[in-house]
Amino acid sequence: MRIATGMPEVDRVLGGGLLEGSVALLGGDPGIGKSTLVLQMLDRVGARGQTALYISGEESVEQVRARAARLGLGGRGVHLLAEQQLEELAPELRRLRPALIVVDSIQTAHTREHEALPGTVTQVRACAAQFIQWAKTTGGAVLLVGHVTKEGALAGPRTLEHMVDVVLYLEGLHLERSGGAADALAGAGWPQRLLRCVKNRFGAAHEVGLFAMTPTGLAAVDNPSSMLLRERTPGAPGTAVFAGMEGTRPLLVEIQALVGDAASAAPRRMAQGVDPQRVGLLQAVLDKHLGLSIAGLDVYVNVVGGLRLAEPALDAALVAALLSSLRNRPLAPDLVVFGEVGLAGELRGVRFAAERLAEAARLGFRRALLPPLRREPLPLPSGMVAQPVATVRELAEMLE
Ligand code: TYD
Ligand code: MG
Repeated sequence: MRIATGMPEVDRVLGGGLLEGSVALLGGDPGIGKSTLVLQMLDRVGARGQTALYISGEESVEQVRARAARLGLGGRGVHLLAEQQLEELAPELRRLRPALIVVDSIQTAHTREHEALPGTVTQVRACAAQFIQWAKTTGGAVLLVGHVTKEGALAGPRTLEHMVDVVLYLEGLHLERSGGAADALAGAGWPQRLLRCVKNRFGAAHEVGLFAMTPTGLAAVDNPSSMLLRERTPGAPGTAVFAGMEGTRPLLVEIQALVGDAASAAPRRMAQGVDPQRVGLLQAVLDKHLGLSIAGLDVYVNVVGGLRLAEPALDAALVAALLSSLRNRPLAPDLVVFGEVGLAGELRGVRFAAERLAEAARLGFRRALLPPLRREPLPLPSGMVAQPVATVRELAEMLE
């Protein structure tokens, strides 16, 4: 049985909720919004009549109450304990038998089993092990909050990744704030947060949820593709729209490339949001199969919005953006691109072609360049022209 958090966007990322008896880790930079998110979840679980417990090692009960009030949360059915010592918590856990426990944060938890200080790898692991044991024996679900910096400077929680069942990270997106009334309504006028599932023993990993950060907490963004494409500048050379998938959800993302003469003997390659090695490989494929020489040029690649993309299907969009910049010619504004590129310069099929096309059509795109179809014909959304391309050479020709 799953314990739904009551936040549909979170439940979708989790594959329906937290499984009974399971332990999840929620990591993220300090200040990113972890405590806010877990308070919202606890409030919904409690309001549904299930026992929810928030263990705060960082704030007093009064501080947590004040925070919940600011967020407009009623707190019905949510128990609060400001306690770091696991041995002190044990009797309360036995008494309450919560369906959901949130430990905020695992870095502040301490067990007398070890002398090590809170936050050390020893303590963090020993405390996590106790919660895992508790979850297994009682069937309650536990969510451990951990501060993790991008550089992994606070390594403690990272070492929990293989102990727990589910690993979530809350991250920032870097879209401009425009703050217009229409944007605010679309949830796009606020700073955005991305909830990413990187491990799920009981469901699909790599699901992402998108949220806007509002004065009353995190609110799901209804139309993430349109949010991500909001600042697009159609007609600018060096940009391509990628019809991607994040988990099981299609997401349209703008890819930008800048190819320029190398300023020094050693060409620079900078890639934001994509693997620079992959970009280098695509440069080599283009040089080999199109007779170009961009491997020796400076290349900058950026995924708009600060998303990190690891899908092989991104290759074709990267190639399109690179060629567009190299030729200084914009791509058609109504075009999306996807497909994996092989070393032989071939475009390889990717999964979810129909979903990608449907999302593109929904946002008004009318043309797609994609790998050849191997099986039955795709269900084409009305008004969408899907053009299969077999090689990077064909792709380059189609873009001219
Ligand atoms: P907080 O949840 O305390 O971050 P973390 O637990 O990861 O350190 O959030 C940081 C601040 O941002 C806090 O003052 C509350 C505020 N905030 C909002 O006002 N709205 C939101 O939607 C979120 C997520 C945070
Ligand atoms: Mg916090």
